[in-house]
Amino acid sequence: SFTVKIASSGKQFTVGEGQSISQVLEVNGIFIPVACESGVCGTCQTGVVEGNPEHRDVFLTDKEKAQGKLIMPCCSRAKTGSITLDL
Ligand code: FES
Repeated sequence: SFTVKIASSGKQFTVGEGQSISQVLEVNGIFIPVACESGVCGTCQTGVVEGNPEHRDVFLTDKEKAQGKLIMPCCSRAKTGSITLDL
């Protein structure tokens, strides 16, 4: 598991194995628009303020993935213990 933090509010939540970032946020009243929920469409694209995404989507380019400033929270995760999103 890892921690997802919300930049604007400072709130943080634990994302367990088998859960997506977007699912955990939705349960906590923070709604990211999603469509495919499998990393294909780009609908859920969200900025990363801090932390390293573990990209599991096929939407971002290799360059964007390497830069680590964008994430698809429907499927991607954090490499480090926590990730802060621009929300
Ligand atoms: Fe389609 Fe996340 S909802 S990439």
